[in-house]
Amino acid sequence: MNTNKFGTQGWTPDRIKDLSGKTFVITGTTSGTGFEAAKILLSKGAKVVMLNRNLKKSQDTIATLKHELGNAIDVTNIQMDLAVLASVRKAAEEVLKTVPQIDALMCNAAIAQVPKQNFTVDGFESQLGVNHYGNFLLQAILYPRIEASKGRIVVVGSMGYNLGIKTIQFDDMNWDKNYSPNSVYSQSKLAQIMCVYELQDRLKKTGKTTVKAYACHPGASSTSLIKTSGSLLTRFIWQIMKLTPMVQSAEKGSYPELMCATEPDLDQEGFYGPTGKNYWTGPVGECKLEPHAKDKPVAEKLWKVSEKATGLEWNL
Ligand SMILES: NC(=O)c1ccc[n+]([C@@H]2O[C@H](COP(=O)([O-])OP(=O)(O)OC[C@H]3O[C@@H](n4cnc5c(N)ncnc54)[C@H](OP(=O)(O)O)[C@@H]3O)[C@@H](O)[C@H]2O)c1
Repeated sequence: MNTNKFGTQGWTPDRIKDLSGKTFVITGTTSGTGFEAAKILLSKGAKVVMLNRNLKKSQDTIATLKHELGNAIDVTNIQMDLAVLASVRKAAEEVLKTVPQIDALMCNAAIAQVPKQNFTVDGFESQLGVNHYGNFLLQAILYPRIEASKGRIVVVGSMGYNLGIKTIQFDDMNWDKNYSPNSVYSQSKLAQIMCVYELQDRLKKTGKTTVKAYACHPGASSTSLIKTSGSLLTRFIWQIMKLTPMVQSAEKGSYPELMCATEPDLDQEGFYGPTGKNYWTGPVGECKLEPHAKDKPVAEKLWKVSEKATGLEWNL
């Protein structure tokens, strides 16, 4: 029996109504799922503010989008490097100055499978620093504008949350003793997801129920992710896998984050992504979330550690 509430095809962007007057702020749109999500939002009439680290790539992205969708689209870029907290702060301040309404902040950008232990300028292991701390700080600074807009926060996680040690290694957050590209990526994506459910609890507790927070994942999608940051061997294996039906298009990979950003009345408790084998491909819907992603004591501690690391307490 099909249990997907969106039918056998699952959720698709056909469900998105006209988005004129809506604004979406999205990280990492120069390739992959972020590019496809931005394109679909723009094609529905939305305003899109992209937060990308590479200005040249961003300009090229805007040119490509205008070429494909026409010059009338409303798309801009604000430069932001998630590996530099000062850059995140600067970009977020610029958003607050220039973007009066945020219907959804989509935290999509990430790096993966970084072969050797590497550090952000703030001294964090790079995958935790970029994927979790960078996006966490961005959410915290933009939160008041999202609240005023009755908007959403959408975090793109990964099924990798269910690999590795399945918790947060609080006694060695930089993995000085046991660095491994996959385990550390897994931890960074778990941290991202855990903070979504912790945010939901905090919003409920403070009665701020007009803001919604969602966690999703793109399954296995043919993007630049491994090409950008993975080792030669991982890149080679991923290139072969991309040729098989185990991996879907980047466009399909963008559906879960689009669903979380636009679908009315979507239950926040869920974890959304492709629902086929291993949750890698297939109709988009709700995926089973393993209990360690909602381990309350770990989530509360992670929230505090993340506020301390980023130097900002959420205004909740
Ligand atoms: N593809 C998959 O199979 C898969 C599976 C599970 C989860 N995911 C998740 O899906 C999301 C999107 O990734 P993708 O697969 O579409 O990969 P992608 O094609 O590599 O896109 C990643 C985007 O993030 C940006 N980015 C990387 N580091 C950044 C930084 N320091 N500051 C700002 N932007 C930065 C990249 O910009 P540059 O062009 O400057 O590098 C790019 O625009 C990620 O959260 C990833 O963890 C993907």
